[in-house]
Amino acid sequence: MSTYSRRRFLNQLLGGTAAAVALPTALAADEGRSRWGALLREARSFTAGDPGDESFWRLVKEQFPLRDGLILMNAANLCPSPFPVQQAVFRFTRDVDADASFQNRAKFDELRESARAALAEYVGAGVDEIAITRNTSEGNNTVINGLDLGRGDEVVIWDQNHPTANVAWDVRADRYGYRVVRVATPPSPSSADELIEPFADAITPNTRVLAFSHFSNVSGVALPAKRLCAIARARGTLTLVDGAQSFGAVRLDLHDMGCDFFTASAHKWFVGPKEAGLLYVSRERAADLWPSDVGVGWEGAKDAGARKFETLGQRDDAAVVSMGTTVVFHESIGVDRIEGRVRQLSATLKHRLEDRVPGVRFHTPRDPGLSAGVVVFDPSVADVAEAFGRLYADHGVAGAPRGGEFSGIRLCPHIYNTLEDVERAANAVAELK
Ligand SMILES: Cc1ncc(COP(=O)(O)O)c(C=O)c1O
Repeated sequence: MSTYSRRRFLNQLLGGTAAAVALPTALAADEGRSRWGALLREARSFTAGDPGDESFWRLVKEQFPLRDGLILMNAANLCPSPFPVQQAVFRFTRDVDADASFQNRAKFDELRESARAALAEYVGAGVDEIAITRNTSEGNNTVINGLDLGRGDEVVIWDQNHPTANVAWDVRADRYGYRVVRVATPPSPSSADELIEPFADAITPNTRVLAFSHFSNVSGVALPAKRLCAIARARGTLTLVDGAQSFGAVRLDLHDMGCDFFTASAHKWFVGPKEAGLLYVSRERAADLWPSDVGVGWEGAKDAGARKFETLGQRDDAAVVSMGTTVVFHESIGVDRIEGRVRQLSATLKHRLEDRVPGVRFHTPRDPGLSAGVVVFDPSVADVAEAFGRLYADHGVAGAPRGGEFSGIRLCPHIYNTLEDVERAANAVAELK
């Protein structure tokens, strides 16, 4: 297709009221096979050789109901869902409310299994290795509660983990008497080896589990998960990888990563339904892990791999099955393309901040091999909390304030941001001085 026709096609999708209004409505038709999905796939093929094509990303942005003027860069915390995912959640919710009979709801069994299959493929796992949970916190606690650990055992954790993967270990250690060893990695690491060494040194013959965030929400550092899992496995140590900051942002292949357990939330980078998440339990480990919750369906799920970790009583079926719709949304854009965009946005943001904000100091490495979508920096202002407030109030830039060792501001641009958003966010930070 000529450049002219391609432009015209994209303009038809992007421009004018008809396209802007009709597009989301078309999404309602049938998630997965919708006109919208086809349109986005088409648009993708027209811009395939042109990863920086902003017209394509404006089309993607239009799929999100963002308030005008808002520059939302808080993906590490909570993401909006695009129209197709919202439509799925609304449609299934209405369906249940229209007819809550067993007969009407029977279809959710099949839909849940389709969602599980889609998720399994999306993360490079077997369908029997996926439980659809409520969030990362629940997945982490399921693993932490479920392992038989006691006196003499050690668990090695990263001091940059989220509390649900650190405090939760401490609480169980108080109860069961095992030892928790916290590992610190160097600030501003310049190589993967520098990140691996402290973990490798901390693992002893007594270490039963190594638990780390794939990408830290605190510093934005990306750990070399595959290498760490290989080291742990060679020493007979299990691995729990917290994927809250990687699931949805980058392509995952959990079999290739080689972890035993992996946890994630749908409502972060995955832009999926709220209060839904994923727990991966490798086939070899399903029998070793006790369930924290046992509810209706347990008998059937007991020997069905990871399914036994989701007998949590009545669920929000609409959210659970819309996990599958979210996978379709990612595939419509292209999983690698999303990762490329996340990396392009965060790299551009780092460059612009460095150019425009005198004295800025990055907690997140500049090296794309040691970081991904999370960008944490100290803007070098007297009062970070006050500056963070102004960033939103005066400039409409929504990120997260950070305290302690990694004090500063966290900005996490995602596929609903344009390069123009990144420019505006960097200018806004520059004006905080
Ligand atoms: C690394 C990490 N783990 C776990 C969580 C908890 O996520 P949720 O509240 O969705 O369970 C977060 C939240 O930011 C996180 O960044």
